[in-house]
Amino acid sequence: MAVDQLLAIPANPKKKLHLLQNAPGLNPKTITPISQHGLLHFLQSIALKSPNEPFYIFDLAGVAALFDHWSQSLPTVRPFYAVKCNPNQAILAAMAALGSNFDCASRAEIQSVLALGVSPDRIIFANPCKPESHIEFAAAVGVNLTTFDSVNEIEKIRRCHPKSALLIRIKPSDDGGARCPLGNKYGALPEEISPLLEAAKSAELPVVGVSFHIGSGATETGAYSAAIAAARGVFETAVRLGLPPMNVLNIGGGFTAGPQFEEAAVTVNSALKEYFPAELNITLMAEPGRFFAESAFTLAVNIIGKRVRGDLREYWINDGIYGSMNCILYDHATVACRPLALKSNRKNPTCGGGRMYDATVFGPTCDALDTVLTGQQLPDLEVGDWLVFPKMGAYTAAAGSNFNGFSTAAIETYVVYSEEGNGTVLD
Ligand SMILES: Cc1ncc(COP(=O)(O)O)c(C=O)c1O
Repeated sequence: MAVDQLLAIPANPKKKLHLLQNAPGLNPKTITPISQHGLLHFLQSIALKSPNEPFYIFDLAGVAALFDHWSQSLPTVRPFYAVKCNPNQAILAAMAALGSNFDCASRAEIQSVLALGVSPDRIIFANPCKPESHIEFAAAVGVNLTTFDSVNEIEKIRRCHPKSALLIRIKPSDDGGARCPLGNKYGALPEEISPLLEAAKSAELPVVGVSFHIGSGATETGAYSAAIAAARGVFETAVRLGLPPMNVLNIGGGFTAGPQFEEAAVTVNSALKEYFPAELNITLMAEPGRFFAESAFTLAVNIIGKRVRGDLREYWINDGIYGSMNCILYDHATVACRPLALKSNRKNPTCGGGRMYDATVFGPTCDALDTVLTGQQLPDLEVGDWLVFPKMGAYTAAAGSNFNGFSTAAIETYVVYSEEGNGTVLD
């Protein structure tokens, strides 16, 4: 995909909605346009007619606004949406229609992107250690770009997909204060880079560039500069070793929407200008997941149980640590919720101005680990009321389980296109 395609996305909200409604994988009949301040009303209407099951609201306008934002702030860096972050079909379809490319980690992820009609050259198989059968699948469908950080992986790729081009994944020296550092598992160490490039050369596999990931939920943007500088060093090493000149730099993920992104974009642009100036004609790519998915999804859960212990209110909800809120364990996330007392306080469902209690919120499974929140201030709610969790799109449903028979996969997603375009309800 070319940068000019990014710029071809219509700015007019009506045109954008039309583009998304007609995207393969999105059904126009199931997309609800929401007028200003209408998201909460829509959420309430679903809650009132649903059989008290948890549900997500996904705001297409939120993801479209983020896509614009990316294009403006990092205009030379092509996004490859990291499917692992949230493989929900609607977000994949929206990203495809907006012109994004895709980072897939497995055969199943590649299949779900190809099923939307995305051409295989818009996919990077960005898992440095892949099962052989998945590499064979990539070869069969024409996904011809992948990452590696070990000699063993080179061997597998040579056997299973000798036409693949490679990016060497390097370990950044700094994990960017990331919530989820990745450097203890992935990335070639500085002393491993030359032997790996030599090994790829012997295997007759072209190493076309460098990739890195400073860690997911990074907080210190300086890590991008250090990693971009290190990548430039790898380009030079390749030339010294007599490999064909590299022409791809993949700066990975680690971006979070909001003020952090502005700061990261300034840092990245300035490092790119210094180490990979435009005249080098390098293809610049990134693998953002959290940036696009997090704020576009809101989760509503129903209160299914209550216990009163003095001033403490304990609530059980029908999603938890083994479901969407696995992000607390695996993504080291902090979740927040707002009350929606549709059963006990219909006149003032958001409970503004009412008395608050110290509250604990438990998930539905019979495991004490399944505790979503402690020390939360919540009103005196009743079974049948709702809690609403904004910004629940990143590493939530993607890694939820079926533990105790509570199926994360069964949680329904309602797709909207909001006039506000910030994707969040009750924020
Ligand atoms: C290889 C790779 N690319 C991209 C991502 C997405 O990262 P983020 O959600 O921080 O943008 C991850 C996350 O683990 C990853 O492992």
